[in-house]
Amino acid sequence: MIILKIGGSVITNKSQENTFKKQTMDRLSKEIKRSGKKIILVHGAGSFGHITAKKYGLQNGFQEAEQIRGFSLTHKAVQKLNSYVIESLYNQDIPAISLPPHSMLRLNNHMLKTFEFEIFNMYLKRGFFPVTFGDVVLDDTLGISICSGDLLVLSLVKYFKPEKAIFVTDEDGLYTKNPKINSDAELINSITENELENLTTDADSHDDVTEGMKGKIDTIKNISKCGIDTILLNGNKQGRLYNVLVGEDDTYTIVHGGRA
Ligand code: IPE
Repeated sequence: MIILKIGGSVITNKSQENTFKKQTMDRLSKEIKRSGKKIILVHGAGSFGHITAKKYGLQNGFQEAEQIRGFSLTHKAVQKLNSYVIESLYNQDIPAISLPPHSMLRLNNHMLKTFEFEIFNMYLKRGFFPVTFGDVVLDDTLGISICSGDLLVLSLVKYFKPEKAIFVTDEDGLYTKNPKINSDAELINSITENELENLTTDADSHDDVTEGMKGKIDTIKNISKCGIDTILLNGNKQGRLYNVLVGEDDTYTIVHGGRA
């Protein structure tokens, strides 16, 4: 089984609120279908969640009544994106089923407290294709918070120990520097968890309440510590997701899992 995250930057236009990149998602759905792989899919929020979540300061926990409205609005937005993703998968005859985090997990000070993992297993066993997503959630200490898709991937990896974890992003993989602002940035084809420690990446500039690339590198370090390989690939390039899913060669970064 594979844990696959499709980043919000791939399937939405991150600088323009609530814009779904349908063509890109439809192509990724086809690549998933063609691979025939058993997958748990996680997707990000992109411009369907980050902008509202930032406006209402949801990441910092409950501070004022107006945030309740912001929480609800953010959830409405991510749920809408989720319905587009589900529809795209469904159009490829993939029996997608939506598992919204806000109703099946709780955080405690941004850390996972409870998660109904077995529901994923039960759907998988019955031949469904579980889909979850970055969402607003309850937090025992902060009242409310955000659960990023990356935290979901890490939690699912720890529980299910999948064949590999895949992040579909809008870059070819990990670079020596942030490629969006450094023209001399070089793509890293293969890296170990130890080497990741030395990699620093400047934060991206868009409204990202869940730490952007720095957060992602921390997540990948933790996945590696479980002994699982992580692959980062460019979802805007045709065929790369398919190739990585079936184990064919292509352009990507592989982070080799250390000894568990
Ligand atoms: C963010 O999820 C969730 C909300 C803002 C509600 P992610 O952090 O996984 O989203 P992307 O992939 O960065 O867009």
